[in-house]
Amino acid sequence: MKPESLLVATLASIFGILSLTGCKSGDGNTIKVGEFASLTGKEKTFGTSSHEGTELAFEEINKSGGVLGKQIELLTEDNQSKAGEPANIVNKLISRDGVVAILGEVASSRSLEAAPIAQEAKIPMISPASTNPKVTEVGDYIFRVCFIDPFQGTVMANFATNTLKSKNVAILTDAKSDYSKGLAKYFKEQFAKNGGVISSELDYNGSDKDFKAQLTTIKGAAPDAVFIPGYYTDVALIAIQAQEIGLSIPLFGGDGWESDNLLQVAGKAVEGHYFSTHCSPEDTSAKMTSFVAAYKAKYNKTPDAMAALGYDSAYVLAEAIKRAGTTEGPKLRDAIAATKDFEGVTGKFSLNEKRDAVKSAAILQIKDGKFKFLETIAP
Ligand code: PHE
Repeated sequence: MKPESLLVATLASIFGILSLTGCKSGDGNTIKVGEFASLTGKEKTFGTSSHEGTELAFEEINKSGGVLGKQIELLTEDNQSKAGEPANIVNKLISRDGVVAILGEVASSRSLEAAPIAQEAKIPMISPASTNPKVTEVGDYIFRVCFIDPFQGTVMANFATNTLKSKNVAILTDAKSDYSKGLAKYFKEQFAKNGGVISSELDYNGSDKDFKAQLTTIKGAAPDAVFIPGYYTDVALIAIQAQEIGLSIPLFGGDGWESDNLLQVAGKAVEGHYFSTHCSPEDTSAKMTSFVAAYKAKYNKTPDAMAALGYDSAYVLAEAIKRAGTTEGPKLRDAIAATKDFEGVTGKFSLNEKRDAVKSAAILQIKDGKFKFLETIAP
């Protein structure tokens, strides 16, 4: 074959493949929804959980007939927990695949990267779990089905004051994470209002491996607890090294702690410590019980908060599409914004005028190597 004809043949087969796949998903018989998630890389349990919850919800919705007489087709892309990928992916999902809405991400920094693209394209985006206030401030097409960190920070400051009886707390923040910096700030504001003192404030860069210098400084300041608003991979190492240097005071943090991986890696080093999150699989509500059963049947494990939030984000979207009667961006946006008294697995919630969910937080403690539900805090 001449080089030219080889090129023609190659192009023809590429177009053949494209039109075949195009035919499968682009014939108007499905409603395409895009999802970006950290399925691999540093925070892989975040994306895996939220994706599984989302997938389970759409499977149920499709089984019961789909929406507007069509099946929902979920197009999921892995951002490998890496900065730069969310923007690429969301661009592709919107311009190449023509999705009508975007679901994602868990980590606030990754949601913040993608949100301006969805906003610009007028394609609604619902974050299942990003709690930094800036995420929905990007614009009126950006929503979330979780609470925000001014609330989470307040909950944990009150917990420190009232339950831990702390007067003097050290804070260890991930300087690379919008989530961590925000949560540290809101915690500090409320803890000061409660009359507490912050004895030392230190930071690290997510993915650091050695935290001994910071932990030694913290130990020197003699606080009665350490607030660590980080993600589980870093928290596991921090807890292990705190134990190694003999810093044996309560450690506590936010939803970023929630991963089975924290228990596996840190083992006894996290025993007795505390964090806030969105819900607990121990909740005995009918919604949670049937979700836990369906999730266990499909994935053979107990769902965490991200799985529950992924599930709720998918149902919020599907119900909004039904109410809107169309998938057209502006009308779908309005329908999502009108979400009120939604009965979710993570509790009953409404979206407020800032497109944030107003709902309770849960506090868990690590006991006997497991996450144990302690209390629910209403907004
Ligand atoms: N709230 C975290 C963030 O905004 C992500 C997260 C949500 C982590 C839920 C664990 C559980 O980055």
